[in-house]
Amino acid sequence: MKAKILIVDDDSDIVTMLEDRLQASDYGTVAAQDGVQALELIEQEAPHLMLLDLDMPRLTGLEVLKRLPKVRPAEDLPVIVMTAHGSIEAAVEAMKGGAYDFLTKPLDKDHLLLVISKALERDSLKRQVACLKSEVDSRYTSIIGTSPNIRTVMESAQRAARSDVGVLLLGESGTGKELFARSIHQWSPRCANPLVVINCVALTETLLENELFGHERGAFTGADRLQKGKLEMADGGTVFLDEIGDMPLPLQAKLLRVLQDREFHRVGGTRLVSVNIRVIAATNRDLKQAVKTGRFREDLFFRLNVITLTLPPLRERPDDLPLLAKFFLNRHAKEAKRPGMLFSPEAMKVMTHYAWPGNIRELDNVIARAVILSPTDTIEPDLLALDSGGLSRPESLTYISLPYHQSMEEHSRRIIDQALKYAEGNQTKAAERLRLQRTYLARLIKQQKLKQEGL
Ligand SMILES: Nc1ncnc2c1ncn2[C@@H]1O[C@H](COP(=O)(O)OP(=O)(O)OP(=O)(O)O)[C@@H](O)[C@H]1O
Ligand SMILES: [Mg+2]
Repeated sequence: MKAKILIVDDDSDIVTMLEDRLQASDYGTVAAQDGVQALELIEQEAPHLMLLDLDMPRLTGLEVLKRLPKVRPAEDLPVIVMTAHGSIEAAVEAMKGGAYDFLTKPLDKDHLLLVISKALERDSLKRQVACLKSEVDSRYTSIIGTSPNIRTVMESAQRAARSDVGVLLLGESGTGKELFARSIHQWSPRCANPLVVINCVALTETLLENELFGHERGAFTGADRLQKGKLEMADGGTVFLDEIGDMPLPLQAKLLRVLQDREFHRVGGTRLVSVNIRVIAATNRDLKQAVKTGRFREDLFFRLNVITLTLPPLRERPDDLPLLAKFFLNRHAKEAKRPGMLFSPEAMKVMTHYAWPGNIRELDNVIARAVILSPTDTIEPDLLALDSGGLSRPESLTYISLPYHQSMEEHSRRIIDQALKYAEGNQTKAAERLRLQRTYLARLIKQQKLKQEGL
């Protein structure tokens, strides 16, 4: 990626001279003739560095520096100020105001290039440090599992990470889709740039569109300044489209266009914005089925689905259960300042026989609760509260002995009971867990009650 430099000077000869020199050294350039325009371009063009003249009409260089934090964090954009020979005080003032370095006019070509490359190098070092730091942090929550099916997915994920292709993560709720998305970003050459998460179950289509594409100033009432969307913030990095199966159809069409052209308009805008992004998407829905029923665009499905990784449910990797359980126990015991906690052999047995419909997230929650509630350092089965209301392992399902509709009702009742139990009776939380509208869940519960009462 070429570094983009914003040149700000009211003297058009200097601007032209700088543009020529910088472009000859393979930098990209944008230019502003005054401070007001400079602030606009910082927002619109997201330059990597700014060369700023101090002595300008409308808004001086010092004033631009002062207003910079409002449009972009100062540490995010190295600024080199340019000042007339002999006005060192102004340069010192600018350095105090957050400038990285200064140059005196007339500009010396070699010195100019040296200062720019030093500033950019420092900026990229800073990003690398941030990247290494997040790698270290991620080791703390590294992917746990030695069973062959999770290892295979992990190896494919590592191979996929090295390329720039789209990855679609499938799997039940709580199987680790987000953890994998984050890991792929960290293993990829883009790791020094941002990973931006977009949850596609946003409230309305308009809100989601605004979140993706951003808006121009004046796009709608209340849009008093330009706002970048998440796609733009992810430039150079990765976009994680979570719950992609829930994206409204009209937005799917717009997203497809971005994925094809890597270009889009901000809401209310006419100018094309181009981005360099890698896309990872995830859903726990059956996307193929959604394509068949017309709820998901087939062309978008093929675009996202270059590499598909399907995460196995926890019940299909029982060998990993003790490993994961101990990992979460250590973590929660440490947080609760109760080191040395253990599972009793019976507790371990109950956990290995449970079906974990909520997968690893459920395991994590169950253990977190047990650590808090356990009166002793040994966690006993009753504290896990897994037997009653929980689904048993598939092989022990007995519903087949019931007629189909009755069996489905029984199944539905158990799932709702269990969700309510984990939500401690709170219907809103239970509905969230089941991904149902609260009102719909309330209706289901009422129907079940009526049936039980024989009405
Ligand atoms: N292999 C693993 N090792 C350690 N922790 C894991 C593993 N897989 C998942 N987790 C943890 O389990 C929790 C759930 O994972 P995650 O949020 O990635 O699931 P998900 O598939 O995105 O779920 P949902 O579909 O509900 O959004 C997280 O806290 C995550 O860190
Ligand atoms: Mg998730």
